[in-house]
Amino acid sequence: MTTSISHAVIPVAGFGTRMLPLSKSVPKELLPLGNKPAIHYVIEEAIAAGIKHIILVGHAQKSAIENYFDVNAELDTQLRQKGKDDLADSLNWLPSDVSVSMIRQGKPLGLGHAVLAARPIVGDHNFAVLLPDVVLNPFITDLSQDNLAFMIDAFNHNQQSQILVDQVADSDVHKYGIAKLCEGQSAPTINQNKLLKNKSFGVAGFVEKPNLKDAPSRLAVVGRYVFDNRIFDYLATTQPSVGGEIQLTDAIDALISTSGVQVTTMTGDSFDAGDMTSYMQAFIYFAKQQLAGNQ
Ligand code: G1P
Repeated sequence: MTTSISHAVIPVAGFGTRMLPLSKSVPKELLPLGNKPAIHYVIEEAIAAGIKHIILVGHAQKSAIENYFDVNAELDTQLRQKGKDDLADSLNWLPSDVSVSMIRQGKPLGLGHAVLAARPIVGDHNFAVLLPDVVLNPFITDLSQDNLAFMIDAFNHNQQSQILVDQVADSDVHKYGIAKLCEGQSAPTINQNKLLKNKSFGVAGFVEKPNLKDAPSRLAVVGRYVFDNRIFDYLATTQPSVGGEIQLTDAIDALISTSGVQVTTMTGDSFDAGDMTSYMQAFIYFAKQQLAGNQ
């Protein structure tokens, strides 16, 4: 696959208050889903979509995440001395042409602020953003073609930023950024057949975490984005709004008014690994898949 998108920003600075007490001393991103930490799947997804430079936007208490993606030379030597070369090799799974770097967010001023913190590393490149609370189901889709990979392909063809959306229940609308469709655009029926093909179309805007009565649709932003680099200019001037935070959705609205933005409907399904109930369901699902021999 040819790609113009080689950078991905992954915000990991949050404390994970919805995951306490599990997240008190272990970053929520390192909590297991089956036999691997949740963020392992997110990085695999990015790599499968062609990403080469991964930028984690973190916090002093999140250095264990950085260590997870580094080579532990002492452990590596010890395992090889004991003849456990296969185990040592399995720990060094990151492809040699993929780099993972970490930059600090500094202050907890919101998702938009976290993404902007990656600008010194991303530079002038267009880039992807993956929110690691959302783990896409890797067992029922092809990560090299679906969802993020599809969005990168769409961006390469039409240079329109892409935002992944999925239909959510009325009771969940207040948790997400909700898409406002363009006039005349009817909401696609998704989720009835989870494996419906990805589809991209223009969008009029987004409302961050609306009340149900103010929600313009049931299409929720699920945490995968492909951005034109100009999003950084808008983030740099975005003022705090919902929750007193600098919201990525506000900068996306500004981007829509000057450059095209499309939503991409999701294929397959996803888990919210940042919410205790949903995390436990995800753990059971991943564990069952792996016990059945699927990796
Ligand atoms: C963020 C975004 C929201 C999106 C959600 C997906 O919210 O602001 O638009 O729908 O991620 O998980 P958060 O969950 O960080 O509050």
